[in-house]
Amino acid sequence: MPAADKKPETASIPRHIAIIMDGNGRWAADRKLPRAAGHQQGAEAVRRCVKGCIEQGVRCLTLYAFSSENWKRPAEEVSALMSLLRLYLRREMKELNRRGVCIRFIGDRSALDDDICAQLKEAEDFTAGNRELLLTIALNYGSHGEIAAAARRLAEKVAAGEMQPEEITAETLAAQLDTNGLPDPDLVIRTSGEMRLSNFLLWQSAYSELLFIDEYWPDFTEETLALAVAEFGARERRFGARS
Ligand code: IPE
Ligand code: IPE
Ligand code: MG
Repeated sequence: MPAADKKPETASIPRHIAIIMDGNGRWAADRKLPRAAGHQQGAEAVRRCVKGCIEQGVRCLTLYAFSSENWKRPAEEVSALMSLLRLYLRREMKELNRRGVCIRFIGDRSALDDDICAQLKEAEDFTAGNRELLLTIALNYGSHGEIAAAARRLAEKVAAGEMQPEEITAETLAAQLDTNGLPDPDLVIRTSGEMRLSNFLLWQSAYSELLFIDEYWPDFTEETLALAVAEFGARERRFGARS
């Protein structure tokens, strides 16, 4: 029997794909363009990726757009990224809604400008009823901060007598993470050839399949996504058990 026949149908399409969209700067440098041009093309790749996920039947897509460490970049690059986010939300919201995309944001919003926070809330409210694809965008997100905040909230509950220490389990901790309610990613993709997670979904990716792609994020197409889905389908997930 060919290997593919042994796999249950449903196992071959990842329910949740998470992507570290990396390489915008190098894409631009290769073309002697400013880094902002790479980020702009990166936004175009997001559109193709969303379309590809809907076509492939992927239900959840999580995109790493800005890490809690990206504030270390020069102020002009941070501000270009924030302006692009404003533009993307303004320009794409109707189309995302038309495609049935429910959009949500994870990460610490307290450091973001008020007008951006308002736009995030508006996008979430506008698309809340959509069921085709759950698109989660990680903004000012970092796993260490997320896990520390979750631990702090549990500690507060224990201190207030609302919870016993022995009730702190993997489940109750996961319920305090920004991703509460979202299934763990089946597949984590990073573009640009770098092989690290850079503080992205460290808890949630405990059993994710990892895929590192050489191409830069602005070159990502529906075809790249289809290849990634095919690669995922060829993997054997064991979750610690024996096959
Ligand atoms: C990814 O591209 C976008 C963000 C991190 C915001 P980079 O800007 O990291 O591009 P490289 O890695 O410098 O090529
Ligand atoms: C990770 O990329 C963050 C995002 C894609 C938003 P970086 O380019 O910031 O990661 P490092 O610094 O190379 O690890
Ligand atoms: Mg990078």
